[in-house]
Amino acid sequence: MRNPRNFAKPLALGAPAPINDVPTRPSRMIHFFDPSNERMARKVPELAKQVDILLGNLEDAIEVRNKEAARAGFVRIARDTDFGPTQLWTRVNSLDSPWFLDDITTIVGEAGDKLDVLMVPKVEGPWDIHFVDQLLAQLEAKRRLERPILVHAILETALGVANLELIARASPRMQGLSLGPADLAASRRMKTTRVGGGHPGYLVREDPNPADENAPRKSAQQDLWHYTLARMVDACVSAGILPFYGPFGDIADPVACEDQFRNAFLLGCVGAWSLHPKQIEIARRVFSPPVEEVKWALRVIEEMGDGSGTVMIDGKMQDDATVKQCRVMVALARLIAERDPEMARNYGF
Ligand code: GLV
Ligand code: MG
Repeated sequence: MRNPRNFAKPLALGAPAPINDVPTRPSRMIHFFDPSNERMARKVPELAKQVDILLGNLEDAIEVRNKEAARAGFVRIARDTDFGPTQLWTRVNSLDSPWFLDDITTIVGEAGDKLDVLMVPKVEGPWDIHFVDQLLAQLEAKRRLERPILVHAILETALGVANLELIARASPRMQGLSLGPADLAASRRMKTTRVGGGHPGYLVREDPNPADENAPRKSAQQDLWHYTLARMVDACVSAGILPFYGPFGDIADPVACEDQFRNAFLLGCVGAWSLHPKQIEIARRVFSPPVEEVKWALRVIEEMGDGSGTVMIDGKMQDDATVKQCRVMVALARLIAERDPEMARNYGF
């Protein structure tokens, strides 16, 4: 294990010092685009104004024959675009692929000053993060970057889930984790053929009616992802990094997408991936605290004064713990309001 005194020191001579705290910026959606697609590339400046995070995807969904074009396209877009306050991320190919080394050296070498976060897929344990950490430090030093590039890992193998806490704490570069339900389902040998969301077969059913064995029995679909998502939230928050739900593949089902995103929001996730422009608005709505809840939270904070003791508001008991929940809600609303004038108006800030 590394000496904790050295945890926050650069891993290469001349590399920038790691940061202590993950920057808190609105991160409601990580919008994926294909940098090899010219038509999509032209939309990037417009998209940058609508989303919190833009991610140039080099990994799955990019055909093998387009891998190099995607890498080169990403560098060009990163250099030529003014992203304003929008974060720029990339998802590189996995560490066992023939493209990873060129992805990281080219992107850090040619556009490292524009890159906020490197998303690493199929992370299995802290050793994967240590490898990327060291390599990034070398590349940052060579390029004389002044700001460290952060790392986001996708949780999409059974071994990765088993090593969650170790991955979350593997480096001060760790920015967050996303659930990757599609690859995770394959890795676990789950019997699904979807990208995230529920499954009608995963349910619980009420007991038979003793008076009528043929009477219909109510059933309710359960959430396939609850266990992993909840573990991921605890691992992230306990390590001071940010949890994200990942992709929802049924673009034609905005209702189920919204439900999945909201479950993640309520459990503590800060955002989700958007794979299609239609999902941007869903993520924006779901991952911004609801206006009525924020107004309620402001009232609780006001009436609780210094936060000690208890007060009753509309028949509901408030104390130190509820006022803390309310502060979480209001702090997030204020953060989002700085970036999103429409939400600022809705909140009345
Ligand atoms: C995302 O990459 C996933 O596999 O779900
Ligand atoms: Mg995947």
